[in-house]
Amino acid sequence: MATSGKGLITVREILDLKKHGEKISALTAYDATFARLIDEGGAEIILVGDSLGMVVQGFDSTLPVTMDEMIYHCRAASRGVTRALLVADMPFLTYQASIEQAVLNAGRCLKEGGVSAVKLEGGEELAPTIRRLREIGIPVMGHVGMQPQKVRQYGGYGLQGSDQADAKQILRDAEAVAEAGAFAIVLEKIPMGLAGKITRAIPIPTIGIASGPDCDGQILVSYDMLGLADQFKFRFVRRYLELAEEIRAAVGRYRDDIRDGKFPAAGESFE
Ligand code: KIV
Repeated sequence: MATSGKGLITVREILDLKKHGEKISALTAYDATFARLIDEGGAEIILVGDSLGMVVQGFDSTLPVTMDEMIYHCRAASRGVTRALLVADMPFLTYQASIEQAVLNAGRCLKEGGVSAVKLEGGEELAPTIRRLREIGIPVMGHVGMQPQKVRQYGGYGLQGSDQADAKQILRDAEAVAEAGAFAIVLEKIPMGLAGKITRAIPIPTIGIASGPDCDGQILVSYDMLGLADQFKFRFVRRYLELAEEIRAAVGRYRDDIRDGKFPAAGESFE
């Protein structure tokens, strides 16, 4: 993407990508090293996703992630980013209780976490919160369709919007989020026809995950896309590397070299 050349990509530039028909790439990162590599690789958006609860902390959902943990990971990731738009995912129960709670916690993400925007899961019900955040200068990314923070209500992470009533509600949700002033919206795990319809209906970029090719951009969890979290194989994930296999093999070679007295060699030691 051609940016203004003045540093971090802005929400205005993300909106312009849709206007110019340019696709947006987004990935998650949770620390400085991954954020730096993903930034240097050219993704326009880096999300410090609450997926960290699963891929970093080892929980079976994103629900246990706390505000302090999110701030910690945002601070780390922000030290690796010089170009991409860095977005903090607001953890479960840090923005739903009241607009005041959302303002204070979203404000912490910018003030302490060093991010440029926040992401909230939810539709129509969150419109007043998004409007307020936007009024005070906190850019918001929406997230509709399958919302992982509602896993206990769904009873799993299945496709959403496959019947007509649900599909209509998801379209209404996306419209309400856009109308409230979000600068982009994640569409997660909805039928690709519905994702295309939403993408054509709203003026802000749609960033799809498991929602087909017609979105304005795509996002994946970096640990999935790099083949690090290889205990799961999702149909919607394309693995660009098999890092888990590479790491296990490297550890095996390291162990063998130590056992065989080949590591460290003279050149790796000091007189
Ligand atoms: O938490 C996360 O990583 C996300 C993306 C997958 C959209 O919400």
